[in-house]
This record gives sequence, C-alpha cells and structure tokens, in this order.
Amino acid sequence: MPDYLTSAVEIAREAGALVAEFFKSPLEISYKSPSNLVTEADRRSEALIVGRLQKHFPGHAVVGEEGGGQRIESDYCWYVDPLDGTTNFAHGFPVFCVTLGLVYRGEVIAGVVYDPTREELYTGEKGAGAFLNGQRLAVSKNANLSESLLATGFPPFDSNHDLNAQLFFRFTLLSHGIRRPGSAALDLCYVAAGRFDGFWELKLNPWDKAAGSLLVQEAGGRVSSLAGGPFNLQTDEIFASNGLIHDEMIPVFSEVLAQKSRR
Ligand code: IPD
Ligand code: CA
Ligand code: CA
Repeated sequence: MPDYLTSAVEIAREAGALVAEFFKSPLEISYKSPSNLVTEADRRSEALIVGRLQKHFPGHAVVGEEGGGQRIESDYCWYVDPLDGTTNFAHGFPVFCVTLGLVYRGEVIAGVVYDPTREELYTGEKGAGAFLNGQRLAVSKNANLSESLLATGFPPFDSNHDLNAQLFFRFTLLSHGIRRPGSAALDLCYVAAGRFDGFWELKLNPWDKAAGSLLVQEAGGRVSSLAGGPFNLQTDEIFASNGLIHDEMIPVFSEVLAQKSRR
C-alpha cells in the first residue's frame, strides 16, 4: 500500500513553509463575501498542495477549499484546506494551519495538520494512533464538564451565529471557559492533544474537519453529531470530546437547538 501519510506530511510541511513566508509581509485581502476573507497565501498554498497530490496520486479525487483539485470518480478523496484560520492570518494573529485528510469509501483513513508558527505537526492514520511531532497523543482524562476547557468557532458567512452564541453562553457558565482560536482543524488537534476537553461547531466543511476528526478518534476521543449520533463528514456540524464529558454536553445542545426550532 502506498504510504499516503508520508506524502501528505511532506506536502503539508512544504505548504506550511509557503504560508509562513507570506505571513511575514503585508498581504492583499480579497473577500468571498463581506466577512469571508481569502488571500494570495490561500490560493498559492492550494495550488501547491493540489499539484503535489495530483503528481503522487493521479487516480485520487482532490477537493480544495479554494476550488482547486480534480473532482473525479475515485474510492479515494483528499480534502484540502490550504490555510485554515484565514481571518487570523489576515489580521496577523498567529493561529492557522494547513490540513489534508484522505477519505477512502467515505471513511477518513489518514490526516495531517501542520501549524508552521509552532512547528507542530499532527498526524494520524486509521487504527494506528495520532501523533504530535512523533509523540503519541491521548485525549484528556477530565470527566466533569464543570472542570473542562472547551472550544468552538463561528463561520465567517453564516446566519447561525445567534444559535452558537447561545451555546457559547450556556457552556461558559457550565465549564472553566471557552476558547475561540479561529482554526477548526487546530481546535480538533487540541482535543486530540488533551489541551481542550471538547469542541463543537455548527457549520464546517469536510476540509475543515477530515483530518482533525480522525486525530481525535485515534487519540481515544469521541466524535459525533451534536445530538450524539454518528459523525458524518459530509454534514455541517461536529462535536468532538475526550469522550468522558460527551454525554453531559449533549442535553445542552438538544435544549438550545429545540428552543431554536420552536421559534
Ligand atoms: C474557518 C476556521 C474557523 C471556523 C470557520 C472556518 P477558514 O476556516 O476553521 O475556525 O470557525 O467555520 O470556516 O475559512 O479559515 O479556512
Ligand atoms: Ca477552514
Ligand atoms: Ca481555508
């Protein structure tokens, strides 16, 4: 079997270095919509990653956030976020990454997230564990929501902010606090690394969560829908945790979502 992970790591490191180089100097920002930013770094990183993937794996489908890739029929599909955390990046806030996830017949089998600022490389393969710079990762052992550090995110283009603001409010009162770092892929890595006990988001794309969802599972955590049902990469939402606080959080999601549907 070809070593998918080795190639993905090589490519993510190369794209990460490119993005880090762009970060050193001021950039021209374009807008996909009023608050959805894109920069030259996003486009150049995607072109690099897609080009490398096409060379290494010509028979695989590739889906990039910025529209690049090759959308062919294949059992294998790479989901590519060439720069996750673009709003941070454009404002000079150093929290962003490059992420690639490989799906085989609908299941994520390999994932890489590279944070060039901290030189942190997260890797995972189905059934073989999750690693940070080669060290095996394990989720936190915290079993109480009241002692948890959580994370969430708000998409740049969405009408659901109100709903997630309510969840933010509720969980702030129930936990040690919530962080909103601005890169969903890194948020998931931080759950895998035990830095966060839980993370949720309502509107993500497959490229934001493919690699990270695998890393959380391989680190011993749980990934599901907000209601606790099976995780589906193709739906918008994700709820990831160390597994121990999962059941305590589900009723809060259900309650807030039910209020919304009654309105
Ligand atoms: C965004 C980031 C952010 C999340 C948004 C994503 P982008 O990705 O992951 O944390 O809250 O929902 O769209 O646009 O920087 O690739
Ligand atoms: Ca993203
Ligand atoms: Ca992106």
